[in-house]
Amino acid sequence: MPHSKISLGVNIDHVATLRQSRYRAATGGNLQAEPDPLLAALAAELAGAAGITVHLREDRRHIQDQDFVRLREGIATKLNLEMGNSPEILQIAFKVGPEDVCLVPENRQEITTEGGLDCAGQYVSLLPTVNSLRSAGIRVSMFIAPDLKQVETAARLGAEFVELHTGAFVNALGLAADEEWDRLVQAAHAAHENGLGVNAGHGINYSNIRKIVQLPHLRELNIGHSIISRSILVGMEKAVREMLELIHE
Ligand code: PXP
Repeated sequence: MPHSKISLGVNIDHVATLRQSRYRAATGGNLQAEPDPLLAALAAELAGAAGITVHLREDRRHIQDQDFVRLREGIATKLNLEMGNSPEILQIAFKVGPEDVCLVPENRQEITTEGGLDCAGQYVSLLPTVNSLRSAGIRVSMFIAPDLKQVETAARLGAEFVELHTGAFVNALGLAADEEWDRLVQAAHAAHENGLGVNAGHGINYSNIRKIVQLPHLRELNIGHSIISRSILVGMEKAVREMLELIHE
């Protein structure tokens, strides 16, 4: 049963991707350089988004430091920073103060975040990062594959949430899709039992959303590519509203 409490975080990285494709040297502070991620964020909020998500990558291929600061100052909902476990980005997170940080694996060659974070394999390096974020009053989520070992390690690390990587499910066909769905359901139950809030994201679109909202214990979805793509055709507010209707239908 889809439930009405699922909130939507809109990932606006691709707005900056479009801007950077033309104005590579531009910062988010230059309103001549369009499109402006802050304006996109405000439109998403008007339409009912519960939060704005950005990934400040080490290579700054889309969102720039100045975008992150302007979003912090300009949005009225909550700011969720996706970041790799990098000391440089961590310092920026402390300075700017997003409500949430979602720790993700980051690989310079990838087009988008490819897999989940290996919490188990990187426990030792992740622990001080999680501790320092929590001490700064920032809530921590771990972007992980729907794998029980990863869920348990995220809980041991002291994270508040996991964001379950839905990519394998949305890309699978037939029997493989059923298996991936079972993995997501089991991971969601395990996360809940371990006291973790359950978020989900990656590859979610206007078709697969009907299935995704059936994930147990789901509290927040983070959706980027499909909403930004639709917004080019129908506008950001309409694109967000249409997704929210499907989430709450
Ligand atoms: N959640 C996380 C942790 C991500 O890295 C991404 C991609 O930036 C998303 C959600 C959004 O994925 P998509 O753009 O496929 O909706």
